[in-house]
Parts: sequence; C-alpha cells; structure tokens
Amino acid sequence: MAKTRTRFVCQNCGAESSKWIGRCPSCNEWNTYVEEVVTKEPDRFSSSSLSSQSFKLITLTDVQQLEVKRIDTQCGEFNRVLGGGLVPGSVTLLGGEPGIGKSTLALQIALQLDHLKTVYISGEESANQIKLRAERLGKVHPNILLVCETSIEAILSALEQAKPQLVIIDSIQTIYADYIESTSGSVSQIRECTGRIIKYAKSNSIPVILIGHIVKDGSLAGPKTLEHMVDTVLQFEGDRQYLYRILRTTKNRFGSTSEIGIFEMQGNGLNEVSNPSEIFLSHSEELLSGIAVAATINGNRPYLIEIQSLVSSAVYGTPQHSSIGFDLRRLNMLLAVLEKRAGFRLAAKDVFLNIAGGLKIEEPSVDLAIAAAILSSNADIAIAKDICLAGEVSLSGEIRPVFRVEQRIAEAKKLGFSQIILPVANKKAIKNTSSDLNFIFIHKIDQLPRVLFG
Ligand code: TYD
Ligand code: MG
Repeated sequence: MAKTRTRFVCQNCGAESSKWIGRCPSCNEWNTYVEEVVTKEPDRFSSSSLSSQSFKLITLTDVQQLEVKRIDTQCGEFNRVLGGGLVPGSVTLLGGEPGIGKSTLALQIALQLDHLKTVYISGEESANQIKLRAERLGKVHPNILLVCETSIEAILSALEQAKPQLVIIDSIQTIYADYIESTSGSVSQIRECTGRIIKYAKSNSIPVILIGHIVKDGSLAGPKTLEHMVDTVLQFEGDRQYLYRILRTTKNRFGSTSEIGIFEMQGNGLNEVSNPSEIFLSHSEELLSGIAVAATINGNRPYLIEIQSLVSSAVYGTPQHSSIGFDLRRLNMLLAVLEKRAGFRLAAKDVFLNIAGGLKIEEPSVDLAIAAAILSSNADIAIAKDICLAGEVSLSGEIRPVFRVEQRIAEAKKLGFSQIILPVANKKAIKNTSSDLNFIFIHKIDQLPRVLFG
C-alpha cells in the first residue's frame, strides 16, 4: 500500500522541507514554500533487490559511438541554436514571457517539417485557436495531430497511439499527473511530468519540444530542476515594443551555448533575420556622435550593445552625471580617468549615459565603449559604424584584458562588424588575427581618441 505524506516545496528552486519556512535557505526567496501531498512509491531499488542483480559494466573504449542524425528543422536560426538540428530523443525546453511567440515558433517548426508526423499537445489553446494560428502562418497540413489534453496519462497514451516523429508540448506548466495532489505548474507536478516525458522521448528516440513559462524575474517558472532535467534550454526573448526576438541557448547537451537566433515577428509569423547587425546598429543612416558599440558578455552570452552618451556644458553650477543601465559610480570613475590620464576637460560638463534597449550592464569590459561614446559626444565626432570595443579601464588609465575574447570576436564578426578595439594584453589569446576583422590593440586610454578619430 502506497504511503501518503506531505512536504513543503520551494516553488522557486525545488528545495524540500518537512515544515513551512518563510525564507528558503537554498535560494533565499521569501514565501515560496507550498505544502504538497505526495504519494510515496514503494522503494523498488532497495538494497536487498539490488544485491541480487548483476550489472553489466562497459569500459569507455568499448562504447560504440552512434552517429547522431539530427533533424533539420528547415529553420536556419533554430538549427543554429540547437547546434545543427533536433537530436532524436532529446528534450528541448523553449522558455519565454507570455506573448513573445513561443507557440508561434513551435507551430511554425511543425508546419515546416511537413514530412514528419508531429503531435502538438496544447493545454492552453483550443484546436480552433491553433488552426487559426496555422492559417495565419499560411500553411495547414494533415501531418500535424492536435491533442488538447493536460493529463500526462492521456497524453502518453495518445502518443503511443499516434507514434509521432516529433512532439510539441504547450506548455509544461499545464500538464498534470493525477496521483500527485498539487496543482499543475507546481514543482512536484512539473518534475514528475517532465520526468515521464523525458522517459518517453529517450525510450522512443522522439525529439520533444517543451514550452515553458517565464516568471516575473525572467527565470523559467518552476524549479531549476526542470532545467537540469532537459537536454537543451532555449530562451526566447525580446522587447514586445520591438518586432525582433532573440532565441538563446542557456544549456545544450548537444552543442554550444554561444549561438543566438534572431527572428522578426511579422503578420505572417516569425521571419528569420539574415542580417542581424541591422537590429543592433543605430537605425538611422546618419552617423551620430556619442554612440559606441560594446562587445560584452551577459551571463554566459556575448552581446553587442549600443552605448549612448551626451556630453554638454553644465547649465547649473554643479555638473550632472546620470546613467541608465550602468553603475553611476563607475561612470564617475571613467570620467575621472579620462580627465586625469587622457587630458580631457570633462569636470565642468554634464554627462548622460544610456544603454540602448533598456539593458543593464555590470560587466567591466564595457568601460572602453563608454569612454569612446563620451569622447565622441564631447568632440562631436561620430565613431565609424563598423567599430566595436571591449576592454576594462583601470584607474591608471591602462586597458585591462577581457575574458572570453574569442566569443566577443565571433559575435562581432557575426553581426557584421569589421573593426574591433581590444586591450593589447588580449593579443596573445587570439588565435586568428588574419581574419576579415581588423584588430586594433591599445594599452592606454590616451590612445583611444587617436584610434577612433585618427
Ligand atoms: P504566441 O506564439 O501566442 O506567444 P506565446 O506562446 O509565447 O505566449 O504569440 C504571441 C504574439 O505574436 C501575439 O501577440 C500575436 C503575435 N503574432 C504575430 O504578430 N504574427 C503572427 O503571425 C502570429 C501567429 C502571432
Ligand atoms: Mg503560447
């Protein structure tokens, strides 16, 4: 007879406790513990049953390497973030805020793969709504089977019956197992349902795309364990004010996590963006002073961002310094370094700094681009559009090396830049300096005006 017990589970990180706690000791979040009733399965792997089994051990050299035949999703940007296509038996989590386009992307992939039998499980929308979306995307074909179900048992038996070649589940937060007495979307439900889906995917070698919600702070709803369980985690993000969307890999067991996919949301679905530099560069054709592009790393992802600066004579007695998206104290430090080490008279100037797109940057390697933007606005000379910069500025005015320089270079190349200004100290770490990118190495801040403006 199965035993019933309750436990308290942190809805943020999945930590468990036998009693309610106000603040999770593991992730430090407040008020995240919720009581969940669990049915404890009898322990199948008790030591007595294990001792009677014999295990087959294989040496690493004896493992036969099977060639993974990836499924080409017919979408270059999606293939790119997956590391070359969907791996059979893999479970891919596609996360993003509501309305960003997760369902659209998943349905679009299914529609493009019309030679594959796809089961689209929807716990959020009716078959009618999905049909309407497919019509909007301009394609409807009979190889997509819709299942509007949320019970994991019903879903797995539908999959047994349909024998699909690709499964899409929209979304994991709506799926539930009825033997777990907590609501769908809770840690236990997500963990259990994901576990069963993964088991299905692995034993049948079927790729599964799981759609997941994002909570307010930008992390995937549900426990971190969800991210640990799946093979690949893709984050779909972008500002809804803008049309473009970025697909990032935050985890990939079958490829690198340094790729991004860029899409544009149009009336007929998501279009791949073949020339991404258009998005990141200033949209005006005109060359404007006070703008510099930084090659930075945010989390584990390289980014190219536009730094905007405005330097003007102080109208009031005390000059104002203001900064959006960057630490004001660090801005003040950079201004002092420019004054003292490069001889720019900035003390009587108002300086405004803004990081485009509402991004916040803490990485010190943007220092050089910030200094460049300030110098450009101060001199009212625009920086060439094909230049980007990375380097940390020290108090002595030296440009300190940046980490993961190769990744920044790759990103700059990918986004169509042709010149990059870097610290001299990074020169050795760069393997291929004879590529299509022009490298400019500097070691002191006072060299910056010369390399920028000649
Ligand atoms: P959706 O895929 O439903 O988002 P999610 O599943 O992430 O919640 O798409 C949401 C938005 O995309 C919706 O506001 C309408 C817009 N959209 C378009 O602009 N063009 C289209 O062709 C489609 C299908 C949606
Ligand atoms: Mg959706």
